[in-house]
Amino acid sequence: MNILDDIKKLLGDDWVRFEEFFRETLQNKVDLLNTVNNYLLEHRGKQLRPVLTLLTANSFSACGQPALVAAAIVEIVHTASLLHDDVVDNADRRRGAASVKRIWRSNIAVLTGDYWFARAFQVMTKYKETRLLPWFNACMVAMTEGEIWQLEKAQKLDITEDDYYQIIGRKTAELLALSMACGAIVANVDEAVAKRIYDIGYLMGMAFQIRDDIFDYEQHNQSGKPAGNDIRERKITLPLLYALRQAGEKEREDILRHIRHAARKTRSVTKVIRFVHRHKGQEYAEKVMLEYSGKAIAMLQELPGTPYRAALIDLAKFMTTRRK
Ligand code: IPE
Ligand code: IPE
Ligand code: MG
Ligand code: MG
Repeated sequence: MNILDDIKKLLGDDWVRFEEFFRETLQNKVDLLNTVNNYLLEHRGKQLRPVLTLLTANSFSACGQPALVAAAIVEIVHTASLLHDDVVDNADRRRGAASVKRIWRSNIAVLTGDYWFARAFQVMTKYKETRLLPWFNACMVAMTEGEIWQLEKAQKLDITEDDYYQIIGRKTAELLALSMACGAIVANVDEAVAKRIYDIGYLMGMAFQIRDDIFDYEQHNQSGKPAGNDIRERKITLPLLYALRQAGEKEREDILRHIRHAARKTRSVTKVIRFVHRHKGQEYAEKVMLEYSGKAIAMLQELPGTPYRAALIDLAKFMTTRRK
């Protein structure tokens, strides 16, 4: 059994109630929407974010209805962002299956994403958890900024390593940070503690996204997303950034030219992947990733010593070892 299954078992009834609550939340009277929602429920992802929320809430001995509401909201927001992301990235595969965008086209994917976002805020108000509102608001602003910033850099191909950390921080780490912070907020911890928990989640999120970016350079990865996809999207991520830094002027120009052609030419994608392997870009990204997760693990020691804290530490490690 994998570590996420073990953790869901540790969460026991809380996890079962979460799954029920999540499913119920999305019910509606529009057939097409239900068809798409059922497809999404059949192709669930890892559900990392609600796991983080429920583990954190449990660490502070507070896993009641407010924690379930928070866990549902983070997963709804995440799923909505993926529906939109596959339109933005023109991606046909998601979670090892055809994306909603591929099956029902962009108009349905965008509207279903809008619906999920709206539902997230409806749940928040219905259950009177509006204390979470400013946190979610800030997170969604950051996520959108990160996505647009990334597109800008893909156009110009002038991303720096600092830009990269800022972008992945916004588009990914903020939501993982929030997933953990929510679990602490619903436990009524002091604001300073919630912020500290947020920082831990942020570090985990950075490690998580760097792992994701390394997948793109693994030929036979099991992530459900094909290798070389980022290159086709002109996304220069950490392994490639490092390799470009190591290369000489001429080689760098040559590779940038291949990136510009990558969307149309498989040969160019292969060239870029080989270039990254040659300059050990993956190894560098792995080193940085382990620094982030290592910091998260050290800070997690500050939490009360419970099996939930141990599970959070396992998850921080999982961020760096995961195969999908
Ligand atoms: C995918 O996130 C999007 C990124 C931020 C890289 P996950 O890998 O958590 O997606 P699912 O929900 O498990 O499919
Ligand atoms: C995931 O980003 C979407 C968000 C973080 C909003 P990516 O485009 O990098 O992730 P995948 O590879 O499609 O999952
Ligand atoms: Mg994207
Ligand atoms: Mg994408």
